[in-house]
Amino acid sequence: MTTVTETAAELFAQILDPANRPDPYPLYARLREAPVAPLADGFFAVSRYADIAALLHDPRLSKDQRKTDIPLTGAQRIEPRPFLFLDPPEHDRLRRLVMHQFTPARVNALHDRIVVLVDGLLNAHHDQSRLDVVDDLAYPLPVTVICELLGVPREDESRFHTWADTLAHSLDPDPDQKIDQAALFAGMELRDYMQKLVAERRAHPRDDLLSGLAVGEDPAGRMDDANLVNTMILLLIAGHETTVNLIANGALTLLRNPDELTKLRDNPDRITRVVEEVLRFEPPVQFIARFALADIEIGGVTIPRGSGIRLMLAAGNRDPARFPDPDRFEPDRPDNEHFGFSGGIHYCVGAPLARIEGHVALAELARRLVDPQLVEDPPPYRPNAVLRGPIHLQVDVDGWRD
Ligand code: HEM
Repeated sequence: MTTVTETAAELFAQILDPANRPDPYPLYARLREAPVAPLADGFFAVSRYADIAALLHDPRLSKDQRKTDIPLTGAQRIEPRPFLFLDPPEHDRLRRLVMHQFTPARVNALHDRIVVLVDGLLNAHHDQSRLDVVDDLAYPLPVTVICELLGVPREDESRFHTWADTLAHSLDPDPDQKIDQAALFAGMELRDYMQKLVAERRAHPRDDLLSGLAVGEDPAGRMDDANLVNTMILLLIAGHETTVNLIANGALTLLRNPDELTKLRDNPDRITRVVEEVLRFEPPVQFIARFALADIEIGGVTIPRGSGIRLMLAAGNRDPARFPDPDRFEPDRPDNEHFGFSGGIHYCVGAPLARIEGHVALAELARRLVDPQLVEDPPPYRPNAVLRGPIHLQVDVDGWRD
């Protein structure tokens, strides 16, 4: 038992090690050998597809760490808790109010806007032989979209960028509490910033999601200021810290699979399948946390009540028991029910929006770039283990199609 424990903990330490960020998948495969892997910080990792799928729908699992004795760190300390970190009924109430703002009219308008934005971002580099997919497209697109959707001034990006990055990083396990203090500070700064904006929109509403939540007549009720501020912070971070990785991971995967890039260019309808396969193959959110409200038995091992659980979404997505030939990028695979957007009651609110951004950005890259080549493979990665993706993705091109 001791050796198993040491091996799992050691494996997980390697997963967290930034040196392994470019390719954690062999480590996930070893983690999958046991149904439950006890980790050094008292959490238990679950990595097999069937087990993750069952746990995502298991009401004995909570998102609310306050229901355990595990000390709160990072983004977990923000009060009142954003609904990502709440259980029903409060989770459902707040989530419903947000969902009501994602009207079909608003999402459709976003589609047209995303087409214009992608066009403009790529036109700006049309005469260049090298582009950085992250700096030039994957980052500015989602940040602009989420700002416009929420009603956060785009020109404030340089102010909230570092706070959002720090909070996003605090989702990582943080054994030496290096990120913790910075996250607390970033949370306070971002809250001050949002408080001013909320007050502004309550006084002068516009046609944006913040105004809708602030002054709208939703039969489900209205959010008080504190919940509104923290919901906005959640949406701002969730809306751009993840989509950047979908676009960058997608571009990287297509460049590594030039046949797929050509097929996509010749048949743009493939983009739906391509994006779903990117979400399986290189998911922007690699693992998520839950907390056991009861003893949970998996494959003969009992996870004691009060423990933390890490659902290793990226490992489940590569489980050969669920996906034949899982380490192959294969957009044509049937029945591609991946965990890219999680599952159950916390299934990603922004999935339709993220999909539109991924479709437009990747299809347009495939169409426009003539003979694109990666400058560096693997590219440099952000240090984050949970929200994993390249920090830069330089590509040389022979030219651009109109
Ligand atoms: C490719 C991009 C995205 C990915 C991969 C992604 C992934 C995820 C995942 C895995 C979760 C569930 C976490 C859990 O179960 O613990 C989640 C939740 C959430 N996402 Fe996303 N997301 C993306 C884009 C977005 C966007 C664009 C928005 C906002 C417009 C957004 C808003 C949210 C919110 C509010 C939640 C919390 C849902 C809840 O707790 O009920 N996400 N996302």
